[in-house]
Amino acid sequence: MTAYVHDFDVAQVLAQLTFAEKIALCSGKSFWQMPGIERLGIPSVYITDGPHGVRKQRQLEGVSLENTIPSTCFPTASALASTWDCELVQMVGGAIGAEARALNVSVVLGPGTNIKRSPLGGRNFEYFSEDPLLSSQMSAAWINGVQSQQVGASLKHFAANNQESRRMTIDTLVDERALREIYLASFEGAIKTAQPWTVMCAYNLLNGESCSQHSWLLTEVLRNEWGFTGLVVSDWGAVVERAAGIAAGMDLEMPGNGNANGVSIRDAIDQGTLTIAQLDAVVTRVLTLIKRSLPSYHETITCDWDAHHVLARRVAAAGIVLLKNDHDVLPLQSTQQVAVIGSFAKAPRYQGAGSSYINPTRLDTVYDMLVAHLGRDVEYAAGYHPRAKAPDAALIAEAVALAKRVEVVVLVVGLPDIYEAEGIDRTTMALPASHDALVTAVVAANPRTVVVLCNGAPVEMPWHDQTPAIVEAYLGGQAGGGAIVDVLYGVVNPSGKLAETIPMHGSDCSAASFFPGDGQMVVYRESIYVGYRYYDTADVAVRYPFGHGLSYTSFAYGDVVTQIQPDGNVMVTLSVTNTGNRAGHEVVQVYVRDVAARVFRPAHELKAFTKVYLEAGATTTVQLTLDARAFAFYDVASAQWLVEAGEFEIQVGSSSRDIRGRAVVTLVGVAAQPQRVLAGYSDIRGNDAFNETSFAQVYGKPLTTKRHTRGNFTINTPISDMATHSWIARALHNQMRRQMQQMIGAMDADGPTALLFRTMADEMPPRTLMMFAQGKIKLAWMHAFVALANRKYLQALRALIRG
Ligand code: BGC
Repeated sequence: MTAYVHDFDVAQVLAQLTFAEKIALCSGKSFWQMPGIERLGIPSVYITDGPHGVRKQRQLEGVSLENTIPSTCFPTASALASTWDCELVQMVGGAIGAEARALNVSVVLGPGTNIKRSPLGGRNFEYFSEDPLLSSQMSAAWINGVQSQQVGASLKHFAANNQESRRMTIDTLVDERALREIYLASFEGAIKTAQPWTVMCAYNLLNGESCSQHSWLLTEVLRNEWGFTGLVVSDWGAVVERAAGIAAGMDLEMPGNGNANGVSIRDAIDQGTLTIAQLDAVVTRVLTLIKRSLPSYHETITCDWDAHHVLARRVAAAGIVLLKNDHDVLPLQSTQQVAVIGSFAKAPRYQGAGSSYINPTRLDTVYDMLVAHLGRDVEYAAGYHPRAKAPDAALIAEAVALAKRVEVVVLVVGLPDIYEAEGIDRTTMALPASHDALVTAVVAANPRTVVVLCNGAPVEMPWHDQTPAIVEAYLGGQAGGGAIVDVLYGVVNPSGKLAETIPMHGSDCSAASFFPGDGQMVVYRESIYVGYRYYDTADVAVRYPFGHGLSYTSFAYGDVVTQIQPDGNVMVTLSVTNTGNRAGHEVVQVYVRDVAARVFRPAHELKAFTKVYLEAGATTTVQLTLDARAFAFYDVASAQWLVEAGEFEIQVGSSSRDIRGRAVVTLVGVAAQPQRVLAGYSDIRGNDAFNETSFAQVYGKPLTTKRHTRGNFTINTPISDMATHSWIARALHNQMRRQMQQMIGAMDADGPTALLFRTMADEMPPRTLMMFAQGKIKLAWMHAFVALANRKYLQALRALIRG
């Protein structure tokens, strides 16, 4: 048996490596192991998903989403972000880090910090917010927690990976200002404050170049501008041209694929297009990560799983958002006769599907927790079949009859598991008709009905006005059932605030007409107007604004006082008083508005926040600091952040539409160049908003992508796209479908994992196929295949001979 080292000197090891060993270090050993060097006693450490717990597979080869070692399933990112509580999120990170140590995992793949561009994004449950400040602070807290346990985090998916449709190959066209102010800012803040050990590059292309070989993104911005010192790992199967990736700063290819791409590194070095120094830079970063990971490899620590379940309940409760509470229906009294309706109360919807799927250590249901809280039996009706779209008249009639017999109803509805899965975007913001019909009927039967929503992303609420109380519980993890009961009965005073806007309809979103693109490219025509930046600027009515969330107590805000410090920072001070008769938390939000901007800017932007705890009647002083960046916009022409000279309004409030106090500061700043008036962006209320001509100017480059047409197919073209033009592609596509069907095997055939696998078979390009083949497919064969599909027979022959 090899005796593995407990420490080593990176430079010394680098000096001892052969060329082949260096190449081997550029890609994983297996699906979930980093490369190692047996000869030198350097082990292959484990790297696994994330982010809502530790998803360590029982077997190291391949993907097996459900056969994993149990670990604590924490609430998903939507719920974590709704806490607006960095300390609590850091504690979750700490617990995940500790569980990783218990399972000898060195790097946990998370958090996901992509911006929620559209409420329909299939992975929104896994992302924090539509706002980059909140998203980056949540990410930083999570990373700090995980890394406090000497386990690495992997901030993902870098960058502009905001949809699932064609996620492996889509070209995201986004203007640099929107990139800097919205999409990259979410990564930037987390990287600068928390230095994750790794960053995961996304599958998609960004403005024409694959993220896995984007040197502007991975080297210029990430390392040179932001000072990232860690390692870049590819998303699983994201590598296109490995040598180009190395030159661009993409260090580790995952998963291991028998080093199928090693040949292109060797060729590039031979041809002089890649230097040994570039290869060494990548190898050095891989070795450094392994060195950092050795404690978790060698020392298994024990962790307190029960305490983590308690923490999971606490954080789930803190993330619950009380949307509406007319006539103080809530909190419920234990003496009231209550009924529970909705299958999710017994078969909970508590996490999303895909690579983040956790096999929980325990699972609390709303029903069981309610019975435990009351200490007596509670009547129940299912109301709907979890996945059925069509209303079931018999189940609804039974639910209505029950609702009529009791004083209050707890009605649990939401999105079924197949609606929210990695790999698949939603096509509508509506709940299944079966859930909507049930709510309408039950609310009509009992006016004291509390609707509890379990979903990872916003839903439409056609029954909203008739429903007295609505609780957004998100996907609360394994202890979510207890957390819901805690909030319903006032054991916990709700303090969650929306980290995203709930629009009236999916079609109200600024990206609605431009999402998810045409299958080959997606153009972010709305530019910086994402989420509340759009709704609040264009005065669009929303169901609930960003930052909204009620409490069982009330808070009064004092006058806002601002002071410009000697260093130019602006100090914002105010008092907050708990004016109700219960202790509670309030999230104080600071928005900044550029009063007379010469460039187009949103109505206001969140620039600071804090969560305070106040006993009934107590007052506290809140002080928040705004630095220059809080007032700046990104000036693409001069490639810098600029603060315009003049007035800025500081707005302090309890949501983006509940501003309680204002003050104005005048900053010296610079006189920004007056921008050409761009009709589609200076007034975004009309039909002309985000028109193509204006966007072309904002984007500044031709709005095109390399089309996947016959003759232009590459290893990055979905095989299904080639299938219409080529029998060999058709044959391969069919074979892939059969293979996926085999992987689905005994799984629930209509479940989200099966859906994800089938979608992958339909969207996969040849480059990603190699990852599943685990070294059985050579790169040259893929090139030959693509040449055949392009009907370039000589090229195909040459590739085959070379291979
Ligand atoms: C996902 C990543 C995940 C990886 C490994 C990819 O398909 O996009 O988020 O970490 O698989 O499971």
